[in-house]
Amino acid sequence: MDKKMKGIILAGGKGTRLSPLTKVTSKQLLPVYDKPMIFYPLETMLRAGIKDVLIIIAPDNAGQFLHLLGSGREFGEGIKFSYEIQEHPGGLPEAFIIGANFIGDDNVTLILGDNIFADDLAKDIASFESGGRIFCKKVPDPERSGVAVFDADNKVTQIVEKPKEWISDYAIVGAYVYDNRVIEIARGLQPSARNELEIVDLHKAYLAKGELDVRFLEGEWFDAGTFNSLLEVNNFMAARVKK
Ligand code: TTP
Repeated sequence: MDKKMKGIILAGGKGTRLSPLTKVTSKQLLPVYDKPMIFYPLETMLRAGIKDVLIIIAPDNAGQFLHLLGSGREFGEGIKFSYEIQEHPGGLPEAFIIGANFIGDDNVTLILGDNIFADDLAKDIASFESGGRIFCKKVPDPERSGVAVFDADNKVTQIVEKPKEWISDYAIVGAYVYDNRVIEIARGLQPSARNELEIVDLHKAYLAKGELDVRFLEGEWFDAGTFNSLLEVNNFMAARVKK
């Protein structure tokens, strides 16, 4: 039987770069034109046909997320939201440890709560079979991100975090699809020098098996975590709605 696809939105973190805005509420609840930020990654998830979504949040404003999003029923037939608290921001792969029960035996798509995509990821999520799948966007400043090198079949051949020497123009964005083995791989990771589990180490584990592939974004992509990018995505969404 085909595995089901579950979804996780990771919406904890500290949001220090957006302080003092994030003293009032969580980054992912801040407005992006006419909606709270988290609506965008959530809509990307739901558009891909994922109905079972776990929202991972920090303790501080947990009640506000529940108040805003509720059970999921208002978002459509058969949609169900679950919630977990991440006590401390221990890194992105913690999503799969905190979410292990929720994932069960299924596959899982993780989208970061501050990542906003103009593209529809539905086909690339629906066509996933096994291994790991990352998404990349061609950017002018790849040295600021994790980047990927890949071959003609879209198999990833190399991944480097913030490369000092140019190796690729393709930044890895905040949407990832993994098979069920991700839970065990995440549990086996060691914290990095900044005392976090690193998503790049998860990717490297799949890369070492030769089971990491990549899909590409054509449209705009925003990581809304800074004042400039937050303003930019507000303007982008305002222009899109007005059109
Ligand atoms: P970041 O933008 O890397 O971190 P942050 O949100 O804490 O912001 P800042 O660097 O300004 O302090 O996180 C990306 C997304 O992942 C964001 O939606 C928060 C979320 N996140 C968690 O939920 N838990 C974590 O442990 C980490 C590292 C991030």
